[in-house]
Amino acid sequence: MHVYIEDIGKYENQAVVIKGWLYNKRSSGKIHFILVRDGTGIIQSVIAKGEVDDKVFDRADKITQESSIVLKGMVRKDERAPGGYEIIAKDLQVLQTAEDYPITPKEHSIEYLLPLRHLWLRSKKQNSIMRIRHELIKACRDFFDDQGFINADTPILTPASVEGTTTLFPVDYYGEKVYLAQSGQLYNEATIGALGKVYCFGPTFRAEKSKTRRHLTEFWMLEPEVAFLELDGLMELAEDMTVYVIGRMLKNRRRELETLERDITKLEKIQKPFPRITYKEAVEIIRTKEKDFKYGDDFGAPHETIISENFDRPVFVHHYPAGLKAFYMKRDPDDDTLSLSVDMIGPEGVGELIGGGQREDDYDIILRRVKENKLPEDAYQWYLDLRKYGTCPHSGFGLGIERAIAWVCGIKHVRETIPFPRMLERVYP
Ligand code: 4AD
Ligand code: MG
Repeated sequence: MHVYIEDIGKYENQAVVIKGWLYNKRSSGKIHFILVRDGTGIIQSVIAKGEVDDKVFDRADKITQESSIVLKGMVRKDERAPGGYEIIAKDLQVLQTAEDYPITPKEHSIEYLLPLRHLWLRSKKQNSIMRIRHELIKACRDFFDDQGFINADTPILTPASVEGTTTLFPVDYYGEKVYLAQSGQLYNEATIGALGKVYCFGPTFRAEKSKTRRHLTEFWMLEPEVAFLELDGLMELAEDMTVYVIGRMLKNRRRELETLERDITKLEKIQKPFPRITYKEAVEIIRTKEKDFKYGDDFGAPHETIISENFDRPVFVHHYPAGLKAFYMKRDPDDDTLSLSVDMIGPEGVGELIGGGQREDDYDIILRRVKENKLPEDAYQWYLDLRKYGTCPHSGFGLGIERAIAWVCGIKHVRETIPFPRMLERVYP
């Protein structure tokens, strides 16, 4: 019976068939130890001379790394084997003998591995990251689904910008210029009018002009938006989601986290409440290390790291100067120079994980902001409409999926958190 390696414990002392690829091989004259992977796990199989047909033993001798194989044998519990079980082989078929595989178990440079991403994904570490990615996305969605949010998809081809006009990717749309979506937010603001609380989840695009370890040009974002929700409630929502998601990772992906040698105690600290500080307070923290940092400056990666060093969990920084934030941010009713914005900065120097805030809900003011920002009014007509027909206070945020994965996995660069990263200088493979 064909079984998957992750389920092997259910078949102790039974005959099974494993279909997969050769991961590694070790041989002594009379015995081959092969490691087989099938995507769900890796298992060791023992192929002993005399115990199998000579032809089978010979095949095992010639088999190369990444050859596709069908292995038949008996499942045996063995504490010493990786994973606790091994397969005593009875038969081995080779579907295709792989050519010299370019990725060996030794260390390779990132410059070497990136163009081989289509193969690199097969490695143990990358496999664990992709499994964590899957779980993290599912956990985010479950969190919102369980609270009655509706997933309302937003378009990728859009007539207008959301997050400034400098990172737009233009697309020729039958002779008209449109852009790849930077965020689904503006459409979320429309769908809450129909559904109350929504989220969108999809790829977003930004023509980032610098190479950093936190930026991709194509990244995935999960964006909730809620009618009648204000800034404090938004922070609570982000906090609850984060605690839930980290809890799920610890519950369901411990094996993968161990493969990545992640310090799990750091993730176990992610509990409520998360500290909440104003932009002004954050500036004071930065100034203890960087005297020249001025009130009104935007945070770069080093500044976010300085802030995060003070906390063992994510920290909310709210009330940024309006000038640092997008046109749609509502202003603080007590101080018009401030916006009702919030960023959630992750621990361990991962940087900004979440950006969001309360939206401007007044027609005249939002129209003025569109004009002040020299945005094309026509393209925003529908968005302005939302302030004419039953406007209400509302808030939302965007979670950058790749940054969240980098944090959970404890890896420095977002390029390994997505199957096929798109960066300033890379669209291959
Ligand atoms: O802070 P940002 O730009 O916020 C928005 O797009 C809002 N419209 C979202 C909303 O309120 N619905 O982006 C949100 C998050 C960031 O905190 C970061 O985690 C991630 O998206 N992000 C990126 N991740 C990878 N590569 C990039 N180039 C990113 N730009 C933003
Ligand atoms: Mg931001």
